[in-house]
Amino acid sequence: MENFILSFAVSVLLLHSFAFSLNSISTDKHALISFKNSITSDPYAILSTNWSQNNTSVCNWIGVSCGLKHRRVTALNLSGYGLVGTVAPHLGNLTFLRYLDISFNSFTGKIPSEIGSLSRLKELYLGLNDFRGMIPEEIGNLSQLEVLSIPDSPLTGNIPSSVFNIFSLKFMDLSNHSLSGNIPSDICDRLPNIEVLTLWTNQLSGEIPPNIWK
Ligand SMILES: *[C@@H]1O[C@H](CO)[C@@H](O)[C@H](O)[C@H]1NC(C)=O
Ligand SMILES: *[C@@H]1O[C@H](CO)[C@@H](O)[C@H](O)[C@H]1NC(C)=O
Ligand SMILES: *[C@@H]1O[C@H](CO)[C@@H](O)[C@H](O)[C@H]1NC(C)=O
Ligand SMILES: *[C@@H]1O[C@H](CO)[C@@H](O)[C@H](O)[C@H]1NC(C)=O
Ligand SMILES: *[C@@H]1O[C@H](CO)[C@@H](O)[C@H](O)[C@H]1NC(C)=O
Ligand SMILES: *[C@@H]1O[C@H](CO)[C@@H](O)[C@H](O)[C@H]1NC(C)=O
Ligand SMILES: *[C@@H]1O[C@H](CO)[C@@H](O)[C@H](O)[C@H]1NC(C)=O
Repeated sequence: MENFILSFAVSVLLLHSFAFSLNSISTDKHALISFKNSITSDPYAILSTNWSQNNTSVCNWIGVSCGLKHRRVTALNLSGYGLVGTVAPHLGNLTFLRYLDISFNSFTGKIPSEIGSLSRLKELYLGLNDFRGMIPEEIGNLSQLEVLSIPDSPLTGNIPSSVFNIFSLKFMDLSNHSLSGNIPSDICDRLPNIEVLTLWTNQLSGEIPPNIWK
């Protein structure tokens, strides 16, 4: 009887951890498949071939890197693959993502606000695409972010005030859009770690205080 209870407990435990790990990596897979499904042109057939193998882990897919221990997706780099389409909001479900680089493609539509859910994100590269609309204010929720690089899309509206609250930010490039509004006068206090700030070719007003480069 004791043996039975023990083995029952062990199998419940195994089942539980199996279901848990299945659930988590399958969330990542679902997010990547949804991302793939909103791409309408893939000229080098990267996603339509390499990302279509059901029997391999997503960790082996081109552009995808996983953590060694927990085997969750930690980096997605699809820079310069000529991809056309929109960015699926499901990308925000890649909970363990630290590096996201989809620069140098032809993504259109809005930058999904769900990117703001990627709480472990350190580097975000979305530049040289064809994004429209505003920079989502949820980007300001990325409290670990060090690199925010979104040059060269016709983005409009203000730079959300929340962006100037990302304490960890070292590099910010929001150049060459049609952004308007004010650069906050207390930018030095709000971004104490900033090393590179690139905002040219916009309709911004205000001043970048000379003491920003300490
Ligand atoms: C996908 O690409 C990666 C990286 O180039 C490669 O290691 C892997 O074998 C490819 N997988 C398939 C199923 O083609
Ligand atoms: C992979 O699985 C999906 C759905 O489970 C199926 O539609 C697709 O044909 C499969 N692809 C391959 C290459 O087996
Ligand atoms: C995965 O499936 C493809 C065909 O669908 C096959 O060519 C390949 O050998 C399989 N890989 C593994 C690791 O089973
Ligand atoms: C993504 O890949 C490109 C091309 O291989 C490389 O230049 C770039 O540095 C990578 N991005 C990141 C964030 O590592
Ligand atoms: C992932 O994100 C999408 C859209 O943001 C959502 O509809 C979906 O339920 C999320 N969860 C999972 C586990 O895929
Ligand atoms: C993220 O930011 C938005 C807008 O700035 C805010 O309303 C929301 O509560 C934040 N979410 C989290 C999880 O912090
Ligand atoms: C500014 O961005 C547009 C795309 O919105 C691009 O065509 C143009 O080359 C960029 N200008 C410079 C100087 O990089």
